[in-house]
Amino acid sequence: MKTLATIDNTSLAIIPGSNAFNLAKNIAEKLGAPLLDIHRKVFPDGEHYVRINFEKLVVPPNYSIVVNTLYPKQNDAFIETLFLLNAAYTETSMNTIAIIPYIAYSRQDKLFLRGEPVSFEAVLSCLRSAGADMLLTVDVHSPIALKRYFKGFSINILVSDLLVKASLKYLDKPIVLAPDKGALNRVRYAALKLGLEFDYLVKHRDRVTGEVSLEPKELSVKERDVVIVDDIISTGGTIALAAQKCLENGARKVVVAATHSLLIGNALEKIRNAGVAKLITTNSIPIEETDFIEVIDLSDVISKELQRVIHV
Ligand code: R5P
Repeated sequence: MKTLATIDNTSLAIIPGSNAFNLAKNIAEKLGAPLLDIHRKVFPDGEHYVRINFEKLVVPPNYSIVVNTLYPKQNDAFIETLFLLNAAYTETSMNTIAIIPYIAYSRQDKLFLRGEPVSFEAVLSCLRSAGADMLLTVDVHSPIALKRYFKGFSINILVSDLLVKASLKYLDKPIVLAPDKGALNRVRYAALKLGLEFDYLVKHRDRVTGEVSLEPKELSVKERDVVIVDDIISTGGTIALAAQKCLENGARKVVVAATHSLLIGNALEKIRNAGVAKLITTNSIPIEETDFIEVIDLSDVISKELQRVIHV
C-alpha cells in the first residue's frame, strides 16, 4: 500500500520536539513518514543546540513537519521549536509545517492593560519568522487571534466533539456546559454535532450578602448529567467551581472534558474533591491515563487534517 510519504513523489519528514515525541511518532506511523532523530545538547553557558538527522532521507523532504507542544517548560520548548523550524526550513523544498497542539501564552491574546505585550502575537510571529509556513494547532484559546496574528496558513482543529462523545459512555443525555460565555463556541460545536442541549454558566454576586452563585443561563441541571467543556485546565479552579456549583444545583453526575490539561499543583485533587466523576482530555500535553483520566490521542485527527490540506 502506498503511504502518504510516497504518493505523488511527496515526501514528508516528521521532526519531533522534546515535549511531543510520542505524538510525533504516532503521526509519523499514521502518515507512513520517517521520524527523524534529533541530536540535542546544552552548552556550558545554558544555550541550547539541536541538529536534525536529515541524512536518514535519500532526498530532502517536500514537507518538513515539526511536532512539539509548548508545555511543560514553555520557554525552553518554544526556543527548541524555533530552532527546529529554522533548521527544517533550510532543508525543505516546499513547506515547513509546525504542529503545536498546545501553544503557550495563548491566553494573553489581546491588550488587557496598557503597557502589556500581546504575548500570543509575539509567539506566533516568532514561529512564522523561524520558518513555519503553516501552523496546525488544536482548540486554541482564541481562533480569531490565531488567524489575526499568524501571518501564514493556520488551522485550528476543534476536538470538543470528540471529548464530549467520549463522555457519553459515562453520562445519560448530558447538558454540555461551558464554564463561562467565552467557552460557548466549543460547547455549541460539540452539542450541535451530537444533538445535545448546551448552555453556559453565569456568575451572580448578591450585592447584600456578597454570596456568589454560578448557574446555567437558560437550562436547569437538576436531576441531569452534565459535561463541562473547557480548553485549558491550569490550576483547576474554574472547573472545580463549575462542577461544585452544578452538583449543588442538583446535577446527578458531572464529567469534565478539557483539551489541554496543564494540571498545575493540586489541580487534580481540587477537581476530584469538587465531585467530578471523570476527566476526559487529550495528549496535547503529555499526560498519563489513570482510572480518573481518559486520554484521547490526537494523532488521528492531526494526521487526517494534514492529509486533507497537503492534498496527497
Ligand atoms: C480561561 O479563559 C481558560 O479558558 C480556562 O478556563 C482557564 O485557563 C482555566 O484556568 P484554571 O484551571 O486555573 O482555573
